[in-house]
Order: sequence, then C-alpha cells, then structure tokens
Amino acid sequence: MVDTSSLKKVLVTGGLGYIGSHVVVSLLLTGKYLPIVIDNCHNAYPEALKRCAEIARDELGPDAPQPLLRQVDLREASAIDKVFDEFAAEGGIWAVVHLAALKAVGESGEIPLAYYRVNVGGSISLMEAMEKHNCKNLVFSSSATVYGTPKIIPIPETSPLQPESAYGRTKAMVEQILKDVCVASAGKESKDAAFKGVSVRYFNPAGAHPSGKLGEEPMGKPGNLLPLLAQMAVGRQKPDLKVFGDDYPTPDGTCVRDYLHVMDLAHGHVLALDAIAKGDIFANCDKSTGYYRAFNLGKGKGMSVLNMVEAMRKASGFDYKYEIVGRRVGDVPDLTADPALAEKELGFRADRTLDEMCRDLWNFQSKHPNGYLSS
Ligand code: WQD
Repeated sequence: MVDTSSLKKVLVTGGLGYIGSHVVVSLLLTGKYLPIVIDNCHNAYPEALKRCAEIARDELGPDAPQPLLRQVDLREASAIDKVFDEFAAEGGIWAVVHLAALKAVGESGEIPLAYYRVNVGGSISLMEAMEKHNCKNLVFSSSATVYGTPKIIPIPETSPLQPESAYGRTKAMVEQILKDVCVASAGKESKDAAFKGVSVRYFNPAGAHPSGKLGEEPMGKPGNLLPLLAQMAVGRQKPDLKVFGDDYPTPDGTCVRDYLHVMDLAHGHVLALDAIAKGDIFANCDKSTGYYRAFNLGKGKGMSVLNMVEAMRKASGFDYKYEIVGRRVGDVPDLTADPALAEKELGFRADRTLDEMCRDLWNFQSKHPNGYLSS
C-alpha cells in the first residue's frame, strides 16, 4: 500500500477530460500532490485515469501515488460536499483545480442555459462546498476566449474581457465570481487564511503525453483543428478539410492561434498551485483586490491554420488536401498570448516545440486510431 499521507490533496474537477487528465499526470509526477478527480464521465473516459496511473508508475516506480476518482456531477451540490467530507478526516482537500465545464463555443449559442447552469452554477456550488470545508485555494480553468477580439497582439492580461460567445461569458463570469469571493474573504480573514484564486487563461492546447498513452479523445467529429487533422490522417474522418477563411489580416490570410503543448499547459497548473502555496504572487494584493490573480498560459507565438496543416503533414506524413471556405462565425483573426507575466511570476514557459506537439499528437493518434479502447 502506497503511503500518501504526506501528499497535499488536490481536487481536480473534470480530471478525466483532455486537459484534466494531463493535469492529473503532472500533479502525480511532482510526488507532492495527490489528485482526487471528480467527473460526471459524460464527455470523458475513466480509462484516461488508468493511463495516468500507469504513466506515474512508469516514471516513478511501483510506489507512485495513484489518482482517485469519484463520479460526481457539479450540478449536485450534495455530491460535491460528500467528497470534501470523505477526505476531511485525512487533513482535508488542500486545493481545487477546476476544469469541469461544457466547452463548445458554437453549442453554447444553441443551449446557453445548459452552459450557464453547468459552468457558472457548477462553479458556485463548488466554491460553496470549498468555503464550507475550509478549502481556500482554487485554480480556475479559463480561456483566451474571454478577450473576444483583442485590440493588442500579443494579448496582455490587462486586455479588457469582452467575450463574444455564451461559453466565453461563462468563463469571464466565473473569473469575476472567484475574484469577488477572494475580495470578500480578504475583508474578513488574515492573508494566510483568506481564499486564494488563480485563473489560468488557456490559449490553444494541442498534442498528447509523449508516452502515447494519454491524449485527446473527442466524442464525435472533432470541431477543433488539431484533433481533426490527426483523425483525418489516421483515416477516422473523411479527409475533406475545410479552412475557414483566407481573407483575415494575417500573413497567409488564415487565422492565427497560439498553440501550446498540453503538457506545458498542464505543468502551468502545477506552477499555479506551487505559487499559491508560496504566496509571492499575492505580494501586491490586499483586502480591496482580494488574493486573486489571472495569467495567460500560451507560448507567445502565433501559428496560422496553414502552418498547422503543414506541421501535421510533417508529423504524420499525410498529404492533406483542403478547400478554402467562408469564415466560421465567432472566429477572430489572431489570438496570440503575451505570456510574460506567467513567465515572470509563475516561472511558466511553454517550451515544447511545434514539432514535438504534432509528433506527440500523432504518436497518440496512430496508437489509438479509434480512441482509447482501440489500442
Ligand atoms: C483553430 C483555427 C478555425 C477547424 C476553440 C475555442 C476556445 C478553446 C479552444 C475551449 C480557427 C480553424 C478549425 C476546421 C479550420 N477552448 N479551423 N477548419 O476556435 O481557436 O478555439 O478551442 O475550451 O475557447 O474557441 O480552435 O481548433 O476550433 O480552430 O479552418 O475544420 O482553425 O477557423 O481559425 P479555436 P479551433
């Protein structure tokens, strides 16, 4: 039996998902955090967690800590409470990394209430449970989409939040709620005891764990570019790539995004937790600001759609044919991060290269042509 009593317990909501599972691996590999995953298993596979455990054993040996899973839906407040209760006797849950959410921009315009219920309502239930159980450290999974169409590229954190979809608004709202919770708590409690919040704004994560054991497994036809390219190359999707617009004000006319390796992004969450534990990132915070910070997690380098098609051709050997079609509603020309703040304060750098990202994505996809259960 592995002794995990010295590890800090971190609740990871949505820990079976693409980013969540890579966060779980990163937490395990630190040897200091014990991830407890809650997930409703709707858009994810429990198999992902077995893979996380396997990777931890491969890298740390047979005594590696193993992640725990509780099947909980964030809309059920009492079920969240139960998880906090379960671990209360063992020192309690120290922090939460909150990723569980609905995440399709287009769909959020069709069923906005579901998005507000799950993303906003779920986050409120989670923070209520945290307060009740004296768990006061939260890393929140936000998105570059909160910036809408930014005026300044690369985008600094000070850029105004003006999301253009219901999905983006849920992310901006939860950031605001978290900040309010931090302010209220800072007004009543000492700095040490106050609620601490960090929002991490993701740019475009891609790739997979380099072992090829863990990766992205979208349900149905992927809507995002990289998983779609990977599934086309492996023959799982028809190779009828449509490039949405080539008349944007960018070097080749196609949209530019800041793609970063999912393992770099995952490590950003570990750094955020470390920074909360250390406290330095709150040096300039006070009662009026609350102990709250927001950071961009990106590479700081923009890549166009055609750049990514070429990078995936190199990685997979697949000769993509594409057709240029009209712009996709809601796309903005360029979302490239200014990651300087995260580098300076968290020590974050998305150093893995574009080639590594595509190689790791292809490694996972070619080992799992039909998903996790097909290997
Ligand atoms: C990238 C580029 C498309 C598919 C979205 C969400 C964001 C997020 C990550 C959510 C765009 C183009 C795509 C295709 C194409 N996080 N494209 N043909 O839109 O930047 O970000 O996913 O949790 O919030 O908005 O990513 O991969 O969908 O698109 O030409 O078949 O590829 O137009 O320019 P996006 P994406």
